[in-house]
Amino acid sequence: MIAESVLILDSHFAENNNGQDIIEGLSKTPKTLPAKYFYDNLGSELFEQICQLSEYYPTRTETAILTQYADEIAQITGVCELVELGSGSSTKTLILLDSYQKKSRNCQYFPVDISSGMLSSAVSKLKLQYPGFLIQGLSGSYDQALNYLQSHHQQKRLIFFLGSSLGNFNELETEIFLGQISETLNPGDYFLLGIDLQKSPAILEAAYNDAQGVTAAFNLNMLSHINQRFRANFNPDLFTHRAIYNQSKGQIEMYLISQENQHVSLKDLDLEIDLKKNESILSEISRKYKLLDIQNQLLNKKIQTLKIWSDSQQWFGLILGQRF
Ligand code: AVJ
Repeated sequence: MIAESVLILDSHFAENNNGQDIIEGLSKTPKTLPAKYFYDNLGSELFEQICQLSEYYPTRTETAILTQYADEIAQITGVCELVELGSGSSTKTLILLDSYQKKSRNCQYFPVDISSGMLSSAVSKLKLQYPGFLIQGLSGSYDQALNYLQSHHQQKRLIFFLGSSLGNFNELETEIFLGQISETLNPGDYFLLGIDLQKSPAILEAAYNDAQGVTAAFNLNMLSHINQRFRANFNPDLFTHRAIYNQSKGQIEMYLISQENQHVSLKDLDLEIDLKKNESILSEISRKYKLLDIQNQLLNKKIQTLKIWSDSQQWFGLILGQRF
């Protein structure tokens, strides 16, 4: 059953991922860790909790924009093969699928996610809710999924990438990723991108330093995840969470800050590191955009903006682009 609804593009993600990226990050000055290590089971759950926090405006703002304009989006694109990158939680997905279902009872939907477990349970649920839809989960990295989709192009396609997940990519990674998106679209195909916009540092910093400490738990959980995955001995109690808005770079930076001089071993990686008191590890960047900049970046990749939707405060943007 699962094999039918979810295609595993990389069945050995855990085994293949030898942690080279961790070794590289921790050998740099200042130290960094890749944001993807947030998302073990507990981390994914904590992220869902973050999305409910009053300080964390992006999820509810984007959901409101989608609720208001999903019918219009479906109207502009017409019936399409729908591809969602990082499908994760499905609330926002349902809004779009409902609008497309009104146009056709038998659309095709390809959710892409790195976590095959989350994906197969999401796909099973969606199949019950949209019985006429052809739903095929693709489990793997974006890279692998986009490669697969490039060689399986059947009809007009809409790729959607919501939640400002693009914000985790640095300049170079963004270039590469948008190039891959463009190659996965034929002329006339569509790209729907949700992005968090630049705003006052106070609002941004509150969103990443919530009063309940859920974001702190999310950040610290990365260390526990790495402990389990690579037989490391980080003591999360000896670190604190800190998020600051770097205004010149237009990005939130999340750090894990060592509370004392300490030594950490990562057995499976043959790595020993020293941390000084107050030394920080950069665990995530979350870039905040100017609409004009991102439109230009898309244009450079042959994606023309058709329409932009936002909320009344212009906190979040939803861009519909078309490949030319
Ligand atoms: C899932 C990457 C969009 O950057 O806002 C939330 C992750 N980190 N709180 C974001 C996150 C801390 C989130 N993204």
